[in-house]
Amino acid sequence: MDQGSLIEAAWQAREAAYAPYSNFQVGAALMAEDGRIFLGCNVENISYGLTNCAERVAIGAAVAAGVRKFIAVAVVADTGVPVSPCGACRQVLAEFGVPLVILANRTEQLQFTLEELLPRASAGILDRAES
Ligand code: THU
Repeated sequence: MDQGSLIEAAWQAREAAYAPYSNFQVGAALMAEDGRIFLGCNVENISYGLTNCAERVAIGAAVAAGVRKFIAVAVVADTGVPVSPCGACRQVLAEFGVPLVILANRTEQLQFTLEELLPRASAGILDRAES
């Protein structure tokens, strides 16, 4: 996988960010197993809690296109340190087993496994012991 291209795609996705409340634009680019790239940007709402983060918008775009297997996601923002995905997004990335998370600002890029960002993401959930 060409990480540079994935990061570049995330910067392009960021251009579409709808962030009139925070003025904080985020872009995400999600690489599928078949090589396709799905884009996401944050989409805010006047009722703040309804805001969708860039990562979840990218997952939604891919799933709506029938794609559920992924290699990596790149997330970018114009920040002092590379932006960190929120807890909700980590859980949604875990739902679809996105193994690698690349975080970048203009000058630096970091990479983490999803397991590092969210250990034991779904251990035990809905797994009831036999009675
Ligand atoms: N945001 C994202 O889209 N992704 C992240 O990884 C961090 C935060 C958005 C949500 C909100 O629109 C703005 O950034 C400020 O929290």
